[in-house]
Amino acid sequence: GLRKKEVNVLCLGLDNSGKTTIINQLKPANAQAQEIVPTIGFNIEKFKSSSLSFTVFDMSGQSRYRNLWEHYYKESHAIIFVIDSGDKLRMVVAKEELDTLLNHDDIRIKKIPVLFFANKTDLRDAMSSVKVSQMLSLENIKDKPWHICASNAIKGEGLQEGLDWLQGDMS
Ligand code: GTP
Ligand code: MG
Repeated sequence: GLRKKEVNVLCLGLDNSGKTTIINQLKPANAQAQEIVPTIGFNIEKFKSSSLSFTVFDMSGQSRYRNLWEHYYKESHAIIFVIDSGDKLRMVVAKEELDTLLNHDDIRIKKIPVLFFANKTDLRDAMSSVKVSQMLSLENIKDKPWHICASNAIKGEGLQEGLDWLQGDMS
């Protein structure tokens, strides 16, 4: 049959936002890990959608590893940026990291899609995806297609909607 188009996706966001949990949910059931641990450095994960073959660089969000992110900017075709909607205290840190990413020489010039997951919507004082997008000033992103989805990675809610958008933009 037809070979699926191969795309590299960089999964970024602060530690504990749910990146690995999200990527794990997107993998076929028989390939999913039972237990998620904080990522050391990064992991490479692969899965397919109906039209694309994804290679995801699931980066650690811990501050000591964030300097690894930029080494993968050049070869990425899309970015998934994950936010813990319940972590109000660190929303400014998430915004700082996002702004640094978007202003980087290897990203600024690229018209690659950016998918945001406002994750952990199940938490009692989670911010809405509209509030998260306001806090991150996403309306200022004019040179790249972007989309934000509310998600609950533990239940797998909202993830397919996000992946469908990404696939639609990249196919
Ligand atoms: P690093 O690898 O350290 O950068 O973190 P990460 O962004 O990969 O987060 P990870 O997937 O390891 O999840 C961190 C914690 O949040 C885990 O205990 C997850 O079970 C939990 N978690 C992930 N998604 C959700 C969610 O939607 N709701 C709730 N309540 N907890 C979640
Ligand atoms: Mg992780």
